[in-house]
Amino acid sequence: MNTAHVHGRLARWMSSLGRFAKDDGIITELDLAIYLLLLLVQELHDEPGDLAELGVFRGGPFAMLTSMQRPEERAFAIDIFDLNVGPDGQANGIWNSPEHFLATVRRISNQEPTCELVRANTTLPEHAAAVCRQVGSRCRFFHVDGGHNLANIRADLRIAAACTANHPTPIVVVDDTFSVQYPEVTDGLIEFLRLQNELVPFLISPVKTFLCRRNEVDRIAKYPLFFLKDGIYRDPASGNPFVRHLTGSPCFTLRPEATATLQNLSLDVFARLAATPYNLPRSPESRR
Ligand SMILES: C[S@@+](CC[C@H](N)C(=O)[O-])C[C@H]1O[C@@H](n2cnc3c(N)ncnc32)[C@H](O)[C@@H]1O
Repeated sequence: MNTAHVHGRLARWMSSLGRFAKDDGIITELDLAIYLLLLLVQELHDEPGDLAELGVFRGGPFAMLTSMQRPEERAFAIDIFDLNVGPDGQANGIWNSPEHFLATVRRISNQEPTCELVRANTTLPEHAAAVCRQVGSRCRFFHVDGGHNLANIRADLRIAAACTANHPTPIVVVDDTFSVQYPEVTDGLIEFLRLQNELVPFLISPVKTFLCRRNEVDRIAKYPLFFLKDGIYRDPASGNPFVRHLTGSPCFTLRPEATATLQNLSLDVFARLAATPYNLPRSPESRR
């Protein structure tokens, strides 16, 4: 393990976080902590791959994600962009413009953005195919946060699956799941999970659902179990974490009031956890 690289990227994350303003994006502190945790697991143990967000809007979460980018990795910002360009061709809502996005990334990362912009309406099959061609299939971290209706979520999850297909240990994050405001996102996620059994949930926060490969669940789930232990729903009598099941896959769920602090964060603890085998208890009706 090259600890100097890990410390360097952690320092970059912390300085970016210091420049992240509330208006830069729609992400909770808890989800940012989970991002950091999973990106550290990948940094320590996993092959390089690419980073992507579908639906980048103001750019804050994308800037945080790419603060953990490794030199050999590419980063893709996929968006329809300029949703609110007026009939005169002038953007009348600066928030959705590539220029505004890039300015946010530049300020938070404190450097010139090197990401590739991928302009597409992902609900159009020819645009979706072009996205997959440009991004390729080796993303290690893919955040799905585009349009929130059923057509969007269906298309966007298919793109996420294609763009991670050739990385051995990818993480796919789906935003606004189980939200009363956006039931179509939940509908689309559950449909996707029932249609395939390769990407499965292992963690559900109050806002996002985190997916990994089916054969990776036991390895990945032990990190939130340890570092976010007080935030995981538990049996009050025994203190044991509840293992919930979504479409037959075991996962942990996080309380809305969970603290966004990763407890006892140290590289020694990561090494010890990596060396400790763990099996999530599964209900008899779990999908294999
Ligand atoms: C909820 S915002 C993303 C928020 C951002 N990820 C964050 O956390 O701050 C949704 C984004 O999806 C994009 N979007 C909406 N419909 C789209 C489509 N059909 N194709 C591509 N992007 C789309 C919008 O332009 C917008 O930037």
